Amino acid sequence: MILKQITCTLFFFLCCIGLFAQKISWTKLAPGIWKGVIGSPEPYDLVKASGAVPNTAAIAEIGEAVFPLNPAQITGALSDGKTFLTFPLNRNEQLYGFGLNFQTVHQRGRILELHMDHYGGKDNGRTHAPVPFYVSSNGYGVFINTARYLKVYAGTGVRLDSEHPPVAKDRNTDKTWSARPYSDNVEMLVPAAGVEVYLFAGPTPMEAVRRFNLFNGGGVLPPRWGLGFTQRVQRLYNADDVMNEAKAFEEKGFPLDFIGLEPGWQSKSYPGTFEWDKKRFPDPKKFVSDMMAKNIRLNLWINPYVSPDASFYKQIKPYVGSHTVWVGAVPDFSMKEARSVFFDQLKKDQVSIGVSGYKIDEVDGYDHYLWPDVARFPSGHSAEQMRQTYGLLLQRYSFDMYRRINKRTYGLVRASNAGGVSMPYVIYNDYYNHEDFITALINSGYAGVLWTPEARASKTAEEWLRRMQTVVFSPMAMINAWSSGTKPWSYPEVAGQVKQMAELRMQMMPYWYSEFAKYHFKGIPPFRGMSLEEGFKQDARKQAVNENLEENPYAEAVSKEVKDQYMAGEYLLVAPLFTGQKTRKIILPKGKWYDFYTGDYAGDGEIITVTPGLDKIPVYVKDGGIIPMMPVRLHAPGAGEKYDLEIRYYGSRPGSYKLYDDDGETFNYEKGEYSWREIKTTLIDGILRGTLSAPAKGKPDNIGNLVWKKMTNTK
Ligand code: GAL
Repeated sequence: MILKQITCTLFFFLCCIGLFAQKISWTKLAPGIWKGVIGSPEPYDLVKASGAVPNTAAIAEIGEAVFPLNPAQITGALSDGKTFLTFPLNRNEQLYGFGLNFQTVHQRGRILELHMDHYGGKDNGRTHAPVPFYVSSNGYGVFINTARYLKVYAGTGVRLDSEHPPVAKDRNTDKTWSARPYSDNVEMLVPAAGVEVYLFAGPTPMEAVRRFNLFNGGGVLPPRWGLGFTQRVQRLYNADDVMNEAKAFEEKGFPLDFIGLEPGWQSKSYPGTFEWDKKRFPDPKKFVSDMMAKNIRLNLWINPYVSPDASFYKQIKPYVGSHTVWVGAVPDFSMKEARSVFFDQLKKDQVSIGVSGYKIDEVDGYDHYLWPDVARFPSGHSAEQMRQTYGLLLQRYSFDMYRRINKRTYGLVRASNAGGVSMPYVIYNDYYNHEDFITALINSGYAGVLWTPEARASKTAEEWLRRMQTVVFSPMAMINAWSSGTKPWSYPEVAGQVKQMAELRMQMMPYWYSEFAKYHFKGIPPFRGMSLEEGFKQDARKQAVNENLEENPYAEAVSKEVKDQYMAGEYLLVAPLFTGQKTRKIILPKGKWYDFYTGDYAGDGEIITVTPGLDKIPVYVKDGGIIPMMPVRLHAPGAGEKYDLEIRYYGSRPGSYKLYDDDGETFNYEKGEYSWREIKTTLIDGILRGTLSAPAKGKPDNIGNLVWKKMTNTK
């Protein structure tokens, strides 16, 4: 007994003096990116699962940077088969990221377990993209490359060896005592005996995010049609219903680029057969090509759980997990054998006849239907690792099918993770809080994922219009009517306004497309939070710094958390209104801002209050902003099709814009078949005049006529 006590005390002592502390060996991977290794990292991780290949040339263009933290303050320790990590935090620092959160943007002070799951209404780390990456307002990013459930204490724990500890206070007498004292570190617990840690330098938070995105291959460049409008039809529609829906869009003049078929396209679903239902779709090949003749592509819903009635069930059975989902077998997509059986079926039955992409459903969770953590997989990967990466694997290998036939795809997925940056998929879910959808859009930009605030149905016409307004300022302009059967015109009082919004989406296609090209080639997230915007740093309110003040322990660190306005591309600030709201406040960063619709001056580094009316979603343009638009059309331009440009320019300052062009459909841009052209406005005799540079010789040139539109009346 005594011996045991002595051993325990000795053990505790050794822990305290850091016997279990591990040296982190840092290697520079690219300019401003370092990898640290602690212990023995597991062979399977997020980078391996995604197969992401860094775009080192683009990272080099951001430039060299010094190691952004004091390496001595980043510590790791191994104990109990787990890795303990500590990173320093300054008093004035705010943190963003830690995956696709829906209600919070500021993450300092939060405790999370990053765990793949559907979103259950709380920001606790369980989400569709539990990306273990955070970015600091001080201009650096940290990524933990693990496929394990990860515990995060983002500035909550107060260590005995803290360099900047809070003062211990007497609760009996001191009113400023707090249950949550100040913490000067971020700590994480990885349930593995080693892990890789990546550090991304800034100098600004945007550059740290860009390095992270480019490290993961750069953002996706969708096909042009992917940025048009998409409607997901009711669950049991047949070929005629779908065709009639397409005709109705055409007759009413509503834009439409692709239609999504929900579970009923398959002969059986939940679990699926992955083959067409021949009653509803007797001739799939003809159906797909008839739709294509109308310029409308098809996207198919799947979840990957294989019905015992699927034609390939026997072949895939040796390569599935020990547990089922809805009694369907769960392919181990980390195994080549499983992939080749599964994707061969998709190729043969659907991709080869022209299906443009997939919606990959239910790969995130709910614990009650997904495989449990006790499940086993034939590859030897644990159930936990499979859960954290399943969405990544499906994105990666379905993307591969399209890459092989040199056709781009753009679809939907309900689970992603770090490494998913370059995958042509947008995350969606079943949750439906409009405000939270916008907060998710903001957070997607810190997590290297895309998110759509899809519209399904609404209680009122007002809500419908408000939702449609945000849908068109998002990565995928979509109505998901799988259950409701809603059409864009279903609320007659606002059908006209909804149509205008859908048309605006199409008009803005040259802008959206160029912004996605910047995501791909430069790592700049097309939809992102205000904290990544230069000139946004709000002046920290001069408050007495009371480190133990419970309501705002980080008064210095932050200004207000901004959850309801965001940047869309280089020049636009979007500030949605929600049902019942007639008026709202908007924080304009430093510099002059102009109304997107009228070109009128709106403010400079100030908070404005607007009452835009129901028809408008407030959008502002930076001084010198240039927005390339095209005439309203029902479908995206096809490969090589010329389109006219209307170039709108705003404000009083000269500006410039990089306009991207390529065939819009293939991967030939990877072989250099693309052009960046420069739109410029210059002050000549006090008047702004615009020029568009010619494309380099032999490079794509799809631009027809050019119209310049001066939006701001300046003298
Ligand atoms: C849900 C999904 C919906 C719809 C539905 C069809 O899981 O989130 O968007 O696809 O399945 O059963």
